[in-house]
Amino acid sequence: MRVAGLRVVVSGGASGLGLGVVRRLVREGASVAVLDRDEVRGQAIASELGVFFLPADVCEEAAVATAIAEVCGRFGGLDCAVACAGVLGPGRVLGKEGPMPLSFFEKTVRVNLVGSFNLAKAAAERMQHNPPGEDGERGLILFTASIAAFEGQIGQAAYSASKAGVIGMTLPIARELARFGIRVAAIAPGVFHTPMIEGVPEEVYRALCAQVPFPSRLGTVDEFADAVLFAIGNRYFNGAVLRLDGALRLPPR
Ligand SMILES: NC(=O)c1ccc[n+]([C@@H]2O[C@H](COP(=O)([O-])OP(=O)(O)OC[C@H]3O[C@@H](n4cnc5c(N)ncnc54)[C@H](O)[C@@H]3O)[C@@H](O)[C@H]2O)c1
Repeated sequence: MRVAGLRVVVSGGASGLGLGVVRRLVREGASVAVLDRDEVRGQAIASELGVFFLPADVCEEAAVATAIAEVCGRFGGLDCAVACAGVLGPGRVLGKEGPMPLSFFEKTVRVNLVGSFNLAKAAAERMQHNPPGEDGERGLILFTASIAAFEGQIGQAAYSASKAGVIGMTLPIARELARFGIRVAAIAPGVFHTPMIEGVPEEVYRALCAQVPFPSRLGTVDEFADAVLFAIGNRYFNGAVLRLDGALRLPPR
């Protein structure tokens, strides 16, 4: 798919990796909608970049469906959905204050996994009606997983479970939607410099950088946006997960 003129929705597009993707897509001439629960940042980005902002929580099935319907009303359809909304949900299974409350575990899974599913199905429902492009292509659904899905660290039980779930559903949804020409794929980032990371103490930040074999630093939102553009442009990238991590393999802690 060509980026210029592409109709895209980015969940979690009000911050971090999602915002980096939004900025790049706008620069490349796409029509972009941001779906995010942060209304203040969302409105600010809408006025700065001229994108369409939809305040919604990805956990809410009906709210996501309504938001996608609004995007289609505004843009006349939808070609690409990028799921970036997510939370870290750190915590030990057996913490200092006792076992992790199930509600905490569930919350992380709801935002990261269920939220990505809600976006995917609402987007696919619309994309199936797109006129077919080259090879019969009708759309792309791109998930954001994490390398913590493969090497989760201590304190990442909920986060890793949610991201492994995202990776787990990528292939079956890609297989299912293949008959419509809708691709489904995921990017698994290593450690990137975003507001999720800001606020960690300087020595922890330096230690994080030192863990990355090469280049020995955190990834940038631009590098993530490059990978999203690759996913959009390369029709043979389907049903797969792209690790983007500078050869980092997370240690146990
Ligand atoms: N930053 C990293 O190093 C890193 C590494 C691996 C994976 N990821 C993943 O990338 C994605 C983006 O991370 P980030 O670092 O940009 O984080 P971020 O906190 O900067 O941005 C996340 C955005 O998602 C939104 N959001 C959170 N919960 C939501 C909900 N329920 N409904 C709607 N919007 C919601 C937030 O308001 C925010 O704008 C996440 O899925 C994260 O797990 C990040």
